[in-house]
Amino acid sequence: MCGIVGYAGRRPATALLLDGLRRLEYRGYDSAGVALLEAGGLTCRKTVGRLDNLDKLLAGDPLAGRVGIGHTRWATHGEPSTVNSHPHLDGAGRIAVVHNGIIENYQELRAELEARGCVFQSQTDTEVVPHLIAAEWTAGRDFLAAVRAALVRCRGAYALGILNAAEPDVFYAARKGSPLIIGLGAEENFIASDVPAILKQVAEVVYLEEDQLARISADCIELFDLAGQAVPVQPQPLTLAAESADRAGFETFMLKEIHEQPRVLRSLLESHLDVPGGPRAFDRGDLDPAAWRALKQVTLVSCGTAYYAALYGRLLLERLTGLSVAVELGSEFRYAPGKVGPETLFLAVSQSGETADTLAGVRCARARGCRIAAICNVDGSTLVRESDAVLFTHAGPEIGVASTKAYTAQLMSLIFVALCAARARGELTADALAEWDRELRHVPDALHYVLNRGEAIAAIAAKHYEGPSSLYLGRRFNYPTALEGALKNKEISYQHAEGYAAGEMKHGPIALINEYVPVVCLCTRTEDEVYEKMISNVREVEARHGRIIAVVSEGDHQLDDVAEDVIPVPALREELSPLVNVVALQLLAYYAARARGNDIDKPRNLAKSVTVE
Ligand code: M6R
Repeated sequence: MCGIVGYAGRRPATALLLDGLRRLEYRGYDSAGVALLEAGGLTCRKTVGRLDNLDKLLAGDPLAGRVGIGHTRWATHGEPSTVNSHPHLDGAGRIAVVHNGIIENYQELRAELEARGCVFQSQTDTEVVPHLIAAEWTAGRDFLAAVRAALVRCRGAYALGILNAAEPDVFYAARKGSPLIIGLGAEENFIASDVPAILKQVAEVVYLEEDQLARISADCIELFDLAGQAVPVQPQPLTLAAESADRAGFETFMLKEIHEQPRVLRSLLESHLDVPGGPRAFDRGDLDPAAWRALKQVTLVSCGTAYYAALYGRLLLERLTGLSVAVELGSEFRYAPGKVGPETLFLAVSQSGETADTLAGVRCARARGCRIAAICNVDGSTLVRESDAVLFTHAGPEIGVASTKAYTAQLMSLIFVALCAARARGELTADALAEWDRELRHVPDALHYVLNRGEAIAAIAAKHYEGPSSLYLGRRFNYPTALEGALKNKEISYQHAEGYAAGEMKHGPIALINEYVPVVCLCTRTEDEVYEKMISNVREVEARHGRIIAVVSEGDHQLDDVAEDVIPVPALREELSPLVNVVALQLLAYYAARARGNDIDKPRNLAKSVTVE
């Protein structure tokens, strides 16, 4: 989704704005622009395509100034074009606005403004904002009051950066529904959509709250609510290390993040197992045993990859706790909230904590009296601030658009939640818990084993990446793994891919199989008949001449004569096997995308954090 940066300070703003925008590139974008305040007034440059285009434009036609705003646009209303890119200006060119979110009533506002003589340049929803502010300003209000009055009229979501040519030393920021942070430096201040943009510049941040407005200069930050009342500024230290947003020698962020997984899981294990009375579930607002026992239901809500993690969570919670567990897509739950109430633990799973559909689900559940818990990677995110209990995945910034380390951290986090719930509800003996503890501690090494097979997996990907379509099949705990493997493949390699519960194959997708279609089969050994059923499904693929890539438990040679390629992974108990299997699938997708020459960290059309509905 769109990225916003803003700067007021003593240094030339253009380079800082561009640097911040580059660090937000992972969010996905199709055009970019900046506006600066100079002695002569407000000037603006924008262009379609990558930031390099904007860089070139600015090199040929530079902008001076020490106050400015910048934007990368991910098109929602109006095609990617220079005229639709941000900043947008009012009719007199005195006010510039950058925006992330959607102004839902923009058509009605635009019609009203056009009737009053405003001339619009773009097809965007955003352009109503500078025109509205200008209308309120020329009606005699001071600028801050004009911005407030304009915002009150906007329905929908926004994070905004605003310049006013009449105030050359300041800029404004506002937020409702879309994230925005203020970074505090020495004699300079920033805004940004996300921490990586300003990580190298500041040591303290302020998370702008819903319906707050900020007036920012080099030396001062003032916060207001929409009624114009001043709000105290409460800076928080930035805890991330600056290098955590760098590629650290890897060719892409995604590859770096895939390789970070053993470390991420090890530190999660330590912080949840090696604590007095461990394991612990939530880092903040943990449930006591009585609260776990009082629960009647758990409902998980999430989107995309996090939804697949939630599907895994349901299987595990149901297996270990006997609780009834539902899994909901945020985008569906918000319009069809099932039965949830005060005895429901409503558990949102989200890397960013800013996904609009997940947040909408949370607010819907809150209104029905649920206790809200979150598994989230970003401290200070909206989800974290709106939850009663939080388990931080602490995976560090995930810059690659395709989620990898956040997923395995989410699976691990769900294991802690399930173990704690089961123990509190008397469903897990001390011996069984000790066995889990022992096996969990093997997981980081098991992931290393898979990562060390990177070259072999790359060779397999090189054989299959040109297929027209691919299928991913798994059962029970590895059904979500199949879904996630297929999603990774389509996101970055653009090869059509479908994940299926293997038993469903014969109900339709089997029609797709021929000698050109790779079929990735997750054949983890289980203690019951599920393994044999999976092998039967592999035979069905063989009979249709599908090209079988089998992910098997190390030492299992049953499929050596059937599969074109075999990827052995360490044998773990079935509930833990998705953690290793998915790493093999991440690598498979990664090397397929690389073989296709795709831009892996910035896949087409995708945004890292989906902050609009
Ligand atoms: O930040 P979230 O975990 O809430 O994001 C949810 C999805 O948008 C996200 O997982 C998306 O599907 C990723 N691109 C998957 O790789």
